[in-house]
Amino acid sequence: MTRAPKLKTARAVIRLAESVDAPKLLRFRMDNREHLAPWEPLRETAYYTLEHCARTIVDGHEAAHLDRGYPFMVFSPHEQDILASFTLANVVRGPFQACLLGYGVHADQQGRGLMREALLAGLAWAFDELGLHRVMANYMPRNERSARLLERLGFEREGYARQYLQIAGQWEDHILTAKIRRDG
Ligand SMILES: CC(C)(COP(=O)(O)OP(=O)(O)OC[C@H]1O[C@@H](n2cnc3c(N)ncnc32)[C@H](O)[C@@H]1OP(=O)(O)O)[C@@H](O)C(=O)NCCC(=O)NCCS
Repeated sequence: MTRAPKLKTARAVIRLAESVDAPKLLRFRMDNREHLAPWEPLRETAYYTLEHCARTIVDGHEAAHLDRGYPFMVFSPHEQDILASFTLANVVRGPFQACLLGYGVHADQQGRGLMREALLAGLAWAFDELGLHRVMANYMPRNERSARLLERLGFEREGYARQYLQIAGQWEDHILTAKIRRDG
């Protein structure tokens, strides 16, 4: 059984995508191709096909089932459209109890506080239900929107990694941040 919930916020429903959502995921990818390209790895042409979206959804359930990662979609209230997505990836248990957070909001939804709203719910679930201790999120120094979002969510800077990820075909430096669970 997949261990992932349906979270509700004022403006969204947050859950893993199901196979029926593949066309919505494809639309999200197509609509945001230019908006997300500067902040993501290069995508092969197949990424923009229904087959690839369906595969991503199956892989997402497997990852959640294995407690390796939770690729959440942020849907509109009636679940017709995908407004944003975020992933609690690379879950490591044992003495670490940590994961890496990645996210992106639909170009039309940017600047409305929606990503923050969704991540507040996702982080509460990660700490309270998944029992994680540390959520890490890293961004390129020029990604000012991402920096502001993380700061508002209470992430703290932990370091600077040179040539950390290959983004849009280039090895890019990243600022490393994390949010630690506060008990009590
Ligand atoms: C990074 C990203 C998710 C930030 O999205 P965002 O919409 O700016 O983030 P938030 O949800 O926190 O919204 C904050 C903005 O909404 C505004 N806002 C409007 N209504 C609001 C509300 N009710 N509550 C909070 N903020 C609100 C804020 O003033 C702020 O705008 P400003 O930054 O112009 O001052 C988005 O820019 C994105 O998808 N970028 C491309 C992908 C990417 O960079 N991913 C991260 C890689 S590290």
